[in-house]
Amino acid sequence: MSQEVIAIEGGHKLKGTVRISGAKNATVALIPAIVLAEEPVEIMGVPEISDVDALMVLLKELNCEVELEEDTLKVNPETMINTPLVSDAVDKLRASYYFMGALLGKYGDVTIKMPGGCYLGPRPIDLHLKGFEALGATITYDENMGSYHLHADHLKGNRIYLDFASVGATINIMLAAVRADGKTTIENAAKEPEIIDVANLLTKMGAKIRGVGTDTIVIEGVDYMGGAVHEIIPDRIEAGTFLIIAAAMGNMVLIQNVIPQHLDALLSKLREMGVVFEIIGDTILVYGNIEHLKPIEIKTQIYPGFATDLQQPLTAFLTQAEGQSKVTDTIYTARFKHCAELNKMGANIEVGDACCYVNGKTDLHGTRVNATDLRCGAALVVAGLMADGVTEIGNVYHIDRGYDNIDRKLIALGAQISRYEVDD
Ligand code: EPZ
Repeated sequence: MSQEVIAIEGGHKLKGTVRISGAKNATVALIPAIVLAEEPVEIMGVPEISDVDALMVLLKELNCEVELEEDTLKVNPETMINTPLVSDAVDKLRASYYFMGALLGKYGDVTIKMPGGCYLGPRPIDLHLKGFEALGATITYDENMGSYHLHADHLKGNRIYLDFASVGATINIMLAAVRADGKTTIENAAKEPEIIDVANLLTKMGAKIRGVGTDTIVIEGVDYMGGAVHEIIPDRIEAGTFLIIAAAMGNMVLIQNVIPQHLDALLSKLREMGVVFEIIGDTILVYGNIEHLKPIEIKTQIYPGFATDLQQPLTAFLTQAEGQSKVTDTIYTARFKHCAELNKMGANIEVGDACCYVNGKTDLHGTRVNATDLRCGAALVVAGLMADGVTEIGNVYHIDRGYDNIDRKLIALGAQISRYEVDD
Protein backbone atom coordinates (compact mmCIF):
# COMPACT_ATOMS: atom_id res chain seq x y z
CA MET A 1 0.00 0.00 0.00
CA SER A 2 1.23 3.52 -0.69
CA GLN A 3 -0.06 6.96 0.22
CA GLU A 4 0.51 10.56 -0.85
CA VAL A 5 2.48 12.81 1.48
CA ILE A 6 3.30 16.51 1.40
CA ALA A 7 6.87 17.53 2.23
CA ILE A 8 7.52 21.14 3.32
CA GLU A 9 10.94 22.70 3.63
CA GLY A 10 10.33 25.34 6.30
CA GLY A 11 11.80 28.78 6.91
CA HIS A 12 10.97 30.40 3.57
CA LYS A 13 9.28 33.80 3.72
CA LEU A 14 6.07 34.03 1.65
CA LYS A 15 5.10 36.92 -0.60
CA GLY A 16 2.45 37.61 -3.24
CA THR A 17 -1.27 36.98 -3.76
CA VAL A 18 -3.53 34.05 -2.96
CA ARG A 19 -7.19 33.80 -4.07
CA ILE A 20 -9.61 32.04 -1.71
CA SER A 21 -11.92 29.37 -3.19
CA GLY A 22 -15.63 28.73 -2.61
CA ALA A 23 -16.66 27.65 0.89
CA LYS A 24 -16.41 23.88 1.46
CA ASN A 25 -19.06 23.95 4.22
CA ALA A 26 -21.51 25.75 1.95
CA THR A 27 -20.67 23.60 -1.10
CA VAL A 28 -21.32 20.28 0.66
CA ALA A 29 -24.85 21.45 1.50
CA LEU A 30 -25.57 23.34 -1.75
CA ILE A 31 -24.94 20.23 -3.87
CA PRO A 32 -27.50 18.01 -2.04
CA ALA A 33 -29.93 20.98 -2.02
CA ILE A 34 -30.03 20.78 -5.84
CA VAL A 35 -32.13 17.60 -5.39
CA LEU A 36 -35.11 19.82 -4.48
CA ALA A 37 -35.11 21.52 -7.90
CA GLU A 38 -37.36 20.34 -10.75
CA GLU A 39 -35.20 22.17 -13.32
CA PRO A 40 -31.44 22.56 -14.04
CA VAL A 41 -29.23 24.29 -11.44
CA GLU A 42 -25.82 25.89 -11.99
CA ILE A 43 -23.42 26.47 -9.07
CA MET A 44 -20.31 28.61 -9.64
CA GLY A 45 -17.19 28.92 -7.49
CA VAL A 46 -17.11 25.19 -6.65
CA PRO A 47 -13.80 24.41 -4.85
CA GLU A 48 -11.59 21.61 -6.20
CA ILE A 49 -11.86 19.30 -3.15
CA SER A 50 -12.49 15.58 -2.86
CA ASP A 51 -15.75 16.10 -0.93
CA VAL A 52 -17.24 17.54 -4.14
CA ASP A 53 -16.22 14.41 -6.10
CA ALA A 54 -18.03 12.20 -3.57
CA LEU A 55 -21.20 14.31 -3.71
CA MET A 56 -21.19 14.26 -7.53
CA VAL A 57 -21.09 10.44 -7.36
CA LEU A 58 -24.19 10.50 -5.15
CA LEU A 59 -26.05 12.85 -7.55
CA LYS A 60 -25.24 10.40 -10.38
CA GLU A 61 -26.53 7.51 -8.23
CA LEU A 62 -29.79 9.49 -8.16
CA ASN A 63 -29.70 9.48 -11.96
CA CYS A 64 -29.12 13.22 -12.30
CA GLU A 65 -27.11 14.63 -15.22
CA VAL A 66 -23.97 16.09 -13.63
CA GLU A 67 -21.24 18.16 -15.31
CA LEU A 68 -18.34 20.02 -13.69
CA GLU A 69 -16.65 22.55 -15.99
CA GLU A 70 -13.73 24.25 -14.20
CA ASP A 71 -15.43 25.62 -11.07
CA THR A 72 -19.02 25.51 -12.40
CA LEU A 73 -21.26 22.55 -11.54
CA LYS A 74 -24.25 21.99 -13.83
CA VAL A 75 -26.92 19.56 -12.65
CA ASN A 76 -30.10 18.58 -14.47
CA PRO A 77 -32.40 16.84 -11.92
CA GLU A 78 -35.20 16.16 -14.45
CA THR A 79 -34.22 12.47 -14.78
CA MET A 80 -33.77 11.95 -11.03
CA ILE A 81 -34.83 8.63 -9.46
CA ASN A 82 -35.09 8.41 -5.66
CA THR A 83 -32.49 5.68 -5.08
CA PRO A 84 -31.23 4.37 -1.68
CA LEU A 85 -27.83 6.00 -1.04
CA VAL A 86 -25.86 3.13 0.47
CA SER A 87 -22.64 3.07 -1.60
CA ASP A 88 -19.13 3.79 -0.26
CA ALA A 89 -19.40 7.38 -1.54
CA VAL A 90 -21.71 8.13 1.41
CA ASP A 91 -18.93 7.19 3.85
CA LYS A 92 -16.52 9.74 2.40
CA LEU A 93 -18.04 12.70 4.20
CA ARG A 94 -20.37 13.51 7.07
CA ALA A 95 -22.23 16.06 4.91
CA SER A 96 -23.76 13.19 2.88
CA TYR A 97 -26.51 13.49 5.47
CA TYR A 98 -27.84 16.60 3.73
CA PHE A 99 -29.37 14.21 1.19
CA MET A 100 -31.66 13.10 4.05
CA GLY A 101 -33.38 16.48 4.33
CA ALA A 102 -33.36 17.14 0.57
CA LEU A 103 -34.80 13.74 -0.48
CA LEU A 104 -37.30 13.77 2.41
CA GLY A 105 -38.40 17.23 1.31
CA LYS A 106 -38.74 16.25 -2.34
CA TYR A 107 -40.10 12.68 -2.17
CA GLY A 108 -41.21 12.17 1.44
CA ASP A 109 -38.95 9.10 1.47
CA VAL A 110 -35.18 8.47 1.74
CA THR A 111 -32.81 5.60 2.58
CA ILE A 112 -29.21 6.53 3.35
CA LYS A 113 -26.21 5.07 5.17
CA MET A 114 -24.90 6.89 8.30
CA PRO A 115 -22.26 9.43 7.08
CA GLY A 116 -18.49 9.38 7.67
CA GLY A 117 -16.15 12.44 7.71
CA CYS A 118 -13.54 13.62 10.24
CA TYR A 119 -13.45 11.89 13.61
CA LEU A 120 -13.80 14.75 16.09
CA GLY A 121 -15.32 12.79 18.92
CA PRO A 122 -18.98 11.75 19.04
CA ARG A 123 -20.88 13.48 16.24
CA PRO A 124 -24.50 12.36 16.58
CA ILE A 125 -27.32 13.44 14.28
CA ASP A 126 -30.04 13.32 16.95
CA LEU A 127 -31.04 16.95 16.37
CA HIS A 128 -31.45 16.33 12.64
CA LEU A 129 -33.67 13.29 13.25
CA LYS A 130 -35.73 15.09 15.90
CA GLY A 131 -36.41 17.86 13.39
CA PHE A 132 -37.49 15.41 10.69
CA GLU A 133 -39.83 13.65 13.15
CA ALA A 134 -41.34 17.03 14.09
CA LEU A 135 -42.16 17.49 10.38
CA GLY A 136 -44.02 14.15 10.36
CA ALA A 137 -41.34 11.68 9.26
CA THR A 138 -41.06 8.19 10.75
CA ILE A 139 -37.47 6.98 11.05
CA THR A 140 -36.19 3.40 11.14
CA TYR A 141 -32.58 2.25 11.39
CA ASP A 142 -31.38 -0.93 9.68
CA GLU A 143 -28.58 -2.36 11.87
CA ASN A 144 -27.32 -4.68 9.10
CA MET A 145 -27.08 -1.99 6.42
CA GLY A 146 -26.13 0.77 8.90
CA SER A 147 -28.71 2.88 7.11
CA TYR A 148 -31.64 5.09 8.01
CA HIS A 149 -35.00 5.00 6.29
CA LEU A 150 -37.15 8.13 6.65
CA HIS A 151 -40.73 8.28 5.40
CA ALA A 152 -43.51 10.87 5.57
CA ASP A 153 -46.82 10.49 3.74
CA HIS A 154 -47.31 14.18 4.33
CA LEU A 155 -44.61 16.59 5.59
CA LYS A 156 -46.25 19.26 7.77
CA GLY A 157 -44.59 22.43 9.03
CA ASN A 158 -43.92 22.65 12.77
CA ARG A 159 -42.13 24.65 15.46
CA ILE A 160 -38.70 23.10 16.12
CA TYR A 161 -36.37 24.13 18.95
CA LEU A 162 -32.73 23.01 18.57
CA ASP A 163 -31.17 22.04 21.92
CA PHE A 164 -27.83 23.09 20.37
CA ALA A 165 -27.40 25.60 17.54
CA SER A 166 -26.19 22.85 15.20
CA VAL A 167 -25.06 23.95 11.71
CA GLY A 168 -25.91 20.60 10.15
CA ALA A 169 -29.27 20.22 11.83
CA THR A 170 -30.29 23.79 10.92
CA ILE A 171 -29.50 23.22 7.23
CA ASN A 172 -30.91 19.67 7.08
CA ILE A 173 -34.23 20.64 8.67
CA MET A 174 -34.44 23.66 6.32
CA LEU A 175 -33.96 21.32 3.32
CA ALA A 176 -36.94 19.20 4.40
CA ALA A 177 -39.14 22.10 5.53
CA VAL A 178 -39.08 24.11 2.27
CA ARG A 179 -41.48 21.56 0.72
CA ALA A 180 -43.54 20.79 3.86
CA ASP A 181 -47.15 22.04 4.10
CA GLY A 182 -47.45 25.24 6.06
CA LYS A 183 -45.05 27.09 8.33
CA THR A 184 -41.91 25.76 10.02
CA THR A 185 -40.06 27.77 12.67
CA ILE A 186 -36.53 26.69 13.61
CA GLU A 187 -35.62 28.22 16.96
CA ASN A 188 -32.08 28.43 18.38
CA ALA A 189 -30.95 28.00 14.78
CA ALA A 190 -27.25 28.26 13.86
CA LYS A 191 -26.20 31.53 12.14
CA GLU A 192 -23.12 30.50 10.16
CA PRO A 193 -22.65 32.29 6.78
CA GLU A 194 -22.80 28.94 4.97
CA ILE A 195 -26.41 28.53 6.17
CA ILE A 196 -27.30 31.90 4.64
CA ASP A 197 -25.68 30.78 1.37
CA VAL A 198 -27.79 27.61 1.26
CA ALA A 199 -30.95 29.62 2.04
CA ASN A 200 -30.06 32.01 -0.80
CA LEU A 201 -29.92 29.12 -3.29
CA LEU A 202 -33.21 27.66 -1.98
CA THR A 203 -34.87 31.10 -2.26
CA LYS A 204 -33.68 31.43 -5.88
CA MET A 205 -35.30 28.03 -6.49
CA GLY A 206 -38.60 29.35 -5.11
CA ALA A 207 -38.44 28.60 -1.38
CA LYS A 208 -39.94 31.06 1.12
CA ILE A 209 -37.44 31.57 3.97
CA ARG A 210 -37.14 34.44 6.48
CA GLY A 211 -34.72 35.13 9.33
CA VAL A 212 -31.79 33.01 8.17
CA GLY A 213 -28.64 34.31 9.86
CA THR A 214 -30.58 34.93 13.06
CA ASP A 215 -31.48 32.32 15.69
CA THR A 216 -35.07 32.05 14.38
CA ILE A 217 -35.71 30.89 10.81
CA VAL A 218 -39.29 30.87 9.42
CA ILE A 219 -40.07 28.76 6.35
CA GLU A 220 -43.38 28.69 4.41
CA GLY A 221 -43.56 25.43 2.46
CA VAL A 222 -43.98 25.65 -1.34
CA ASP A 223 -45.26 23.12 -3.88
CA TYR A 224 -42.66 23.68 -6.56
CA MET A 225 -38.95 24.56 -6.72
CA GLY A 226 -37.37 25.45 -10.04
CA GLY A 227 -33.85 25.95 -11.36
CA ALA A 228 -31.29 28.57 -10.29
CA VAL A 229 -27.82 29.95 -10.87
CA HIS A 230 -25.73 30.54 -7.72
CA GLU A 231 -22.19 31.62 -6.80
CA ILE A 232 -20.74 30.13 -3.60
CA ILE A 233 -19.45 32.49 -0.88
CA PRO A 234 -15.69 32.46 -0.19
CA ASP A 235 -14.37 29.90 2.29
CA ARG A 236 -13.85 31.75 5.58
CA ILE A 237 -11.92 28.80 7.05
CA GLU A 238 -9.51 28.61 4.10
CA ALA A 239 -9.15 32.41 4.32
CA GLY A 240 -8.49 32.14 8.05
CA THR A 241 -5.92 29.41 7.46
CA PHE A 242 -4.07 31.61 4.93
CA LEU A 243 -4.29 34.59 7.31
CA ILE A 244 -2.52 32.49 9.95
CA ILE A 245 0.07 31.28 7.41
CA ALA A 246 0.69 34.87 6.23
CA ALA A 247 1.01 36.08 9.83
CA ALA A 248 3.50 33.29 10.55
CA MET A 249 5.67 33.41 7.42
CA GLY A 250 4.38 36.25 5.28
CA ASN A 251 6.18 39.31 4.06
CA MET A 252 3.36 41.29 2.36
CA VAL A 253 0.83 38.57 1.43
CA LEU A 254 -2.42 39.67 -0.23
CA ILE A 255 -5.41 37.39 0.41
CA GLN A 256 -8.15 37.93 -2.20
CA ASN A 257 -11.85 36.93 -2.35
CA VAL A 258 -12.55 37.30 1.37
CA ILE A 259 -15.63 38.51 3.29
CA PRO A 260 -13.76 40.19 6.19
CA GLN A 261 -16.71 40.26 8.59
CA HIS A 262 -16.84 36.45 8.42
CA LEU A 263 -13.40 36.54 10.11
CA ASP A 264 -13.97 39.16 12.81
CA ALA A 265 -13.12 36.80 15.70
CA LEU A 266 -9.85 35.57 14.15
CA LEU A 267 -8.81 39.06 13.01
CA SER A 268 -9.26 40.45 16.52
CA LYS A 269 -7.22 37.58 18.01
CA LEU A 270 -4.40 38.02 15.47
CA ARG A 271 -4.40 41.77 16.25
CA GLU A 272 -4.17 40.90 19.98
CA MET A 273 -1.07 38.78 19.20
CA GLY A 274 0.53 41.77 17.46
CA VAL A 275 -0.06 40.73 13.84
CA VAL A 276 -0.37 43.71 11.45
CA PHE A 277 -2.79 43.58 8.51
CA GLU A 278 -4.93 45.91 6.41
CA ILE A 279 -8.49 45.23 5.17
CA ILE A 280 -9.11 46.63 1.69
CA GLY A 281 -12.63 45.69 0.45
CA ASP A 282 -12.63 41.93 -0.20
CA THR A 283 -8.88 41.57 0.28
CA ILE A 284 -6.66 41.49 3.35
CA LEU A 285 -2.99 42.56 3.16
CA VAL A 286 -0.88 40.90 5.88
CA TYR A 287 2.44 42.51 6.82
CA GLY A 288 4.81 39.88 8.20
CA ASN A 289 8.08 39.96 10.17
CA ILE A 290 6.53 40.08 13.61
CA GLU A 291 9.20 39.65 16.27
CA HIS A 292 7.44 39.52 19.63
CA LEU A 293 4.13 37.68 19.41
CA LYS A 294 1.92 37.91 22.49
CA PRO A 295 0.22 34.81 23.92
CA ILE A 296 -3.62 34.85 23.97
CA GLU A 297 -6.64 32.88 25.16
CA ILE A 298 -9.25 31.66 22.70
CA LYS A 299 -12.54 29.89 23.32
CA THR A 300 -14.43 28.54 20.30
CA GLN A 301 -18.11 29.47 20.00
CA ILE A 302 -20.92 29.17 17.47
CA TYR A 303 -20.84 31.88 14.80
CA PRO A 304 -19.97 34.77 15.05
CA GLY A 305 -17.70 33.56 17.85
CA PHE A 306 -14.23 32.09 17.22
CA ALA A 307 -14.61 29.20 14.75
CA THR A 308 -13.73 25.73 16.04
CA ASP A 309 -12.29 24.94 12.57
CA LEU A 310 -9.60 27.60 13.07
CA GLN A 311 -8.40 26.66 16.57
CA GLN A 312 -6.14 23.90 15.22
CA PRO A 313 -4.15 25.98 12.66
CA LEU A 314 -3.97 28.88 15.13
CA THR A 315 -2.56 26.55 17.81
CA ALA A 316 0.40 25.84 15.49
CA PHE A 317 1.05 29.59 15.23
CA LEU A 318 0.67 30.08 19.01
CA THR A 319 3.81 27.95 19.51
CA GLN A 320 5.67 31.13 18.41
CA ALA A 321 4.07 33.43 21.01
CA GLU A 322 6.27 34.40 23.98
CA GLY A 323 4.36 32.85 26.89
CA GLN A 324 1.47 30.49 27.59
CA SER A 325 -1.68 30.58 25.43
CA LYS A 326 -4.86 28.67 26.23
CA VAL A 327 -7.19 27.21 23.59
CA THR A 328 -10.62 25.94 24.68
CA ASP A 329 -12.95 24.20 22.23
CA THR A 330 -16.57 24.32 23.46
CA ILE A 331 -17.92 22.79 20.21
CA TYR A 332 -15.74 19.67 19.88
CA THR A 333 -14.17 18.93 23.25
CA ALA A 334 -11.94 16.20 21.77
CA ARG A 335 -10.53 18.24 18.89
CA PHE A 336 -6.92 18.19 20.14
CA LYS A 337 -5.24 15.31 18.22
CA HIS A 338 -3.04 17.85 16.41
CA CYS A 339 -1.22 18.69 19.67
CA ALA A 340 0.69 15.40 19.83
CA GLU A 341 1.75 15.83 16.20
CA LEU A 342 2.92 19.41 16.85
CA ASN A 343 4.84 18.25 19.93
CA LYS A 344 6.74 15.78 17.68
CA MET A 345 8.02 18.94 15.91
CA GLY A 346 9.27 20.51 19.14
CA ALA A 347 6.13 22.29 20.35
CA ASN A 348 5.37 22.28 24.07
CA ILE A 349 1.59 21.79 24.28
CA GLU A 350 -0.29 20.23 27.19
CA VAL A 351 -3.81 18.94 26.53
CA GLY A 352 -6.34 19.54 29.31
CA ASP A 353 -10.09 19.06 29.61
CA ALA A 354 -11.59 20.39 26.35
CA CYS A 355 -8.58 22.68 26.10
CA CYS A 356 -4.82 22.86 25.54
CA TYR A 357 -2.04 25.06 26.90
CA VAL A 358 0.53 26.20 24.33
CA ASN A 359 3.86 27.08 25.98
CA GLY A 360 5.85 29.32 23.62
CA LYS A 361 8.11 30.38 22.14
CA THR A 362 9.48 27.02 20.86
CA ASP A 363 11.63 26.34 17.81
CA LEU A 364 9.99 23.77 15.56
CA HIS A 365 11.94 21.18 13.56
CA GLY A 366 10.81 19.14 10.58
CA THR A 367 9.97 15.43 11.02
CA ARG A 368 7.38 12.88 9.86
CA VAL A 369 3.87 13.70 11.18
CA ASN A 370 0.35 12.56 10.30
CA ALA A 371 -2.84 14.53 9.68
CA THR A 372 -5.48 13.00 11.98
CA ASP A 373 -8.27 15.15 10.49
CA LEU A 374 -8.76 18.01 8.05
CA ARG A 375 -7.86 20.94 10.29
CA CYS A 376 -5.07 19.02 12.04
CA GLY A 377 -3.62 18.76 8.54
CA ALA A 378 -3.88 22.56 8.24
CA ALA A 379 -2.11 22.97 11.59
CA LEU A 380 0.75 20.74 10.39
CA VAL A 381 1.09 22.79 7.19
CA VAL A 382 1.38 25.98 9.27
CA ALA A 383 3.98 24.29 11.52
CA GLY A 384 5.90 22.83 8.57
CA LEU A 385 6.20 26.26 6.94
CA MET A 386 7.67 27.65 10.17
CA ALA A 387 9.92 24.67 11.11
CA ASP A 388 13.64 24.22 10.46
CA GLY A 389 14.22 21.43 7.97
CA VAL A 390 11.71 19.25 6.12
CA THR A 391 8.32 18.19 7.53
CA GLU A 392 6.63 15.21 5.88
CA ILE A 393 2.84 15.15 6.41
CA GLY A 394 1.08 11.78 5.99
CA ASN A 395 -2.67 11.12 5.50
CA VAL A 396 -2.74 14.16 3.24
CA TYR A 397 -6.11 12.97 1.88
CA HIS A 398 -7.63 14.69 4.94
CA ILE A 399 -6.26 18.03 3.71
CA ASP A 400 -7.47 17.45 0.14
CA ARG A 401 -11.04 16.95 1.43
CA GLY A 402 -11.30 20.59 2.43
CA TYR A 403 -8.53 22.70 0.89
CA ASP A 404 -8.49 23.47 -2.85
CA ASN A 405 -4.90 22.82 -4.03
CA ILE A 406 -3.28 24.20 -0.87
CA ASP A 407 0.22 23.16 -1.97
CA ARG A 408 -0.13 24.86 -5.38
CA LYS A 409 -1.33 28.08 -3.71
CA LEU A 410 1.55 28.01 -1.20
CA ILE A 411 4.17 27.30 -3.90
CA ALA A 412 2.87 30.38 -5.75
CA LEU A 413 3.67 32.36 -2.57
CA GLY A 414 7.24 31.01 -2.48
CA ALA A 415 6.86 27.95 -0.24
CA GLN A 416 9.10 24.92 -0.90
CA ILE A 417 6.56 22.08 -1.04
CA SER A 418 6.47 18.77 -2.88
CA ARG A 419 3.92 15.95 -2.97
CA TYR A 420 4.89 12.33 -3.59
CA GLU A 421 3.88 8.71 -2.96
CA VAL A 422 5.47 6.72 -0.12
CA ASP A 423 4.99 3.09 0.87
CA ASP A 424 2.82 2.82 3.95
C1 EPZ B 1 -20.23 21.85 10.66
O1 EPZ B 1 -20.28 20.52 11.17
C2 EPZ B 1 -18.96 21.91 9.85
N1 EPZ B 1 -19.01 20.91 8.79
C3 EPZ B 1 -17.75 21.65 10.75
O2 EPZ B 1 -16.58 21.84 9.96
C4 EPZ B 1 -17.75 22.69 11.87
O3 EPZ B 1 -16.67 22.40 12.74
C5 EPZ B 1 -19.07 22.61 12.63
O4 EPZ B 1 -20.17 22.82 11.71
C6 EPZ B 1 -19.17 23.64 13.73
O5 EPZ B 1 -19.03 24.93 13.20
C7 EPZ B 1 -19.77 21.15 7.70
O6 EPZ B 1 -20.42 22.18 7.61
C8 EPZ B 1 -19.76 20.10 6.64
P1 EPZ B 1 -22.71 20.96 14.28
P2 EPZ B 1 -21.65 19.98 11.85
O7 EPZ B 1 -23.90 20.16 13.91
O8 EPZ B 1 -22.81 20.52 11.12
C9 EPZ B 1 -23.23 18.43 18.23
C10 EPZ B 1 -14.52 21.31 9.04
O9 EPZ B 1 -13.41 21.19 9.56
N2 EPZ B 1 -24.43 17.86 17.56
O10 EPZ B 1 -22.83 22.44 14.46
O11 EPZ B 1 -21.52 18.52 12.03
C11 EPZ B 1 -21.95 17.90 17.64
O12 EPZ B 1 -21.62 16.66 18.22
C12 EPZ B 1 -15.72 20.71 9.70
O13 EPZ B 1 -14.77 21.95 7.96
C13 EPZ B 1 -25.28 17.04 18.29
O14 EPZ B 1 -25.07 16.79 19.47
O15 EPZ B 1 -21.54 20.71 13.28
C14 EPZ B 1 -20.93 18.96 17.95
O16 EPZ B 1 -20.47 18.79 19.28
C15 EPZ B 1 -15.38 19.94 10.97
N3 EPZ B 1 -26.36 16.49 17.67
C16 EPZ B 1 -21.77 20.24 17.90
O17 EPZ B 1 -23.14 19.85 18.00
C17 EPZ B 1 -26.63 16.75 16.36
O18 EPZ B 1 -27.66 16.24 15.85
C18 EPZ B 1 -21.53 21.00 16.60
O19 EPZ B 1 -22.09 20.26 15.59
C19 EPZ B 1 -25.76 17.58 15.63
C20 EPZ B 1 -24.67 18.13 16.25
